Amino acid sequence: MSNEAGRVTVAREGEETKILLPPPAAVLPTSRSTILLVDSVDHNRQYLKGMLKAGPHRILEAKSPDEGLQILGREVVDLIIADLVLPGIGGLEFCRCVKGNRKTRLIPLLMMTNVQGIENEVAGLESGADEFLLRPLHPTAVRTRVRAMLRNKKAIDSLEEAETILFSLAQTVEARDEETGNHCERLAALSVALGTTLGLPEDDLIALYRGGFLHDIGKVAVPDSVLNKGGHLTEQEWAVMKSHTWVGEGICRPMKSLAPVLPVIRNHHERWDGSGYPDGLAGEQIPLLARILQVADIFDALTSKRSYKEPYTVEEAVALLRQEADNGWRDGELVSVFCAMVQQPDFNCRQSDLLPVAAWGGARSEDEDARKMRESLVRMSREVLR
Ligand SMILES: [Fe+2]
Repeated sequence: MSNEAGRVTVAREGEETKILLPPPAAVLPTSRSTILLVDSVDHNRQYLKGMLKAGPHRILEAKSPDEGLQILGREVVDLIIADLVLPGIGGLEFCRCVKGNRKTRLIPLLMMTNVQGIENEVAGLESGADEFLLRPLHPTAVRTRVRAMLRNKKAIDSLEEAETILFSLAQTVEARDEETGNHCERLAALSVALGTTLGLPEDDLIALYRGGFLHDIGKVAVPDSVLNKGGHLTEQEWAVMKSHTWVGEGICRPMKSLAPVLPVIRNHHERWDGSGYPDGLAGEQIPLLARILQVADIFDALTSKRSYKEPYTVEEAVALLRQEADNGWRDGELVSVFCAMVQQPDFNCRQSDLLPVAAWGGARSEDEDARKMRESLVRMSREVLR
C-alpha cells in the first residue's frame, strides 16, 4: 500500500484499486486580524503596537518596504499601516507596489507621516493609500480608523468568498456534463479574444471572461437524466433544459459585482432572427456580450470531440459558423470578425492557456500572466482588423 497526497493506492492480486482520501483539513481562519506595520523607526512601531494592544490583532513588523513586500508574499494580511518616509523605494512606491499587485491590492493601506503639508497627503492618496493620518497620532483616532478599515476588508473578503463559491459551483456543473472537458476555460479565452479584437473596454472583457465560466451555472437545476440524455428531449425535458438561462441569472443576480454578466447568462441562447430563448430577442436587442459568447460557444463545440463526432477542423467550423449566420441565427458581422481571428496562422483555438484561468478577477494567476495575455490579444486584434 502506498500513500500520496489525497490518495491511497491498495495493491491487490493482479490489480490496483485507487481510493480517494480527503485532502488535509484547511487551517481554520481565526477572528484575529493581521496588521502589518511598515516603519523604519522602532519607536514608531512600538507606539502603534501599544495603541492597538487591546484589539484582537496579530501584528507583523517590517523595517523597510522590501521586508514588507516579503511578508506580504507569504502572509495573509488584513491591513497595512505604513510610514510615508521609508528607506529604499520609499513609502509612496511601496504603496504603488501593494496596490499594483493583484494579490495585495485589496488590502487597505493606512499611511502615516509627520511631514506636514497637503501635497504629501495628496501624493499618498494618489499612490493608492486608502487613508492618511498625520502625527502626532491620537490613540482613539487610530483605533477608530483601524476598526473601520478592517470592517471594510471583511466586507470585501465575504464578497470574494461568495464569488469563489459561485465559480466553484459553475465548475461543478461543467464537470457533470460528460462532454465538455475544459469548455469553460476555452470559451472564456475565445470570448475575451473576440472582445479584445472588437476593442471592447476592460470591464466588458472581464464580464466576458466571467460569462465563460458562469453562463451555464443554471444547469445545476437540470437533472442528469435530462442533461446527459443521449436522444431526443421531450417537450417537458426541453423546457427544463431551457430554464438554465433564467435560473442561472437568478443564482447570480444577488451579487452586485456580477451585474454585467447577467445578460450573458440569460441571453446566450437567443438567435439573431428571434427564434432563440428565453426572451425571443432579435438582432441588436440581444446583448452584444451574449452574442460574442454564443459565437465562441458554437465554435468550441464544433472543434471539440464529442461522443457522436470527431472534432471539426478550423476551416470546417468556420464554414458551419458562416452557415449559421446565413441562416439568420447569428450576428453575421461578429461571425466575420471571429472567423478572421481564428484563421490567423498563429492562433491556437484549442489552447485554453491563451487566457490563464482566473486572469480576470481570480486569485490564481499572476499580474505578469494577465499582462502578457492582454498584450498578445491586443497584438492579435490589430492583425485581424488590419
Ligand atoms: Fe447554455
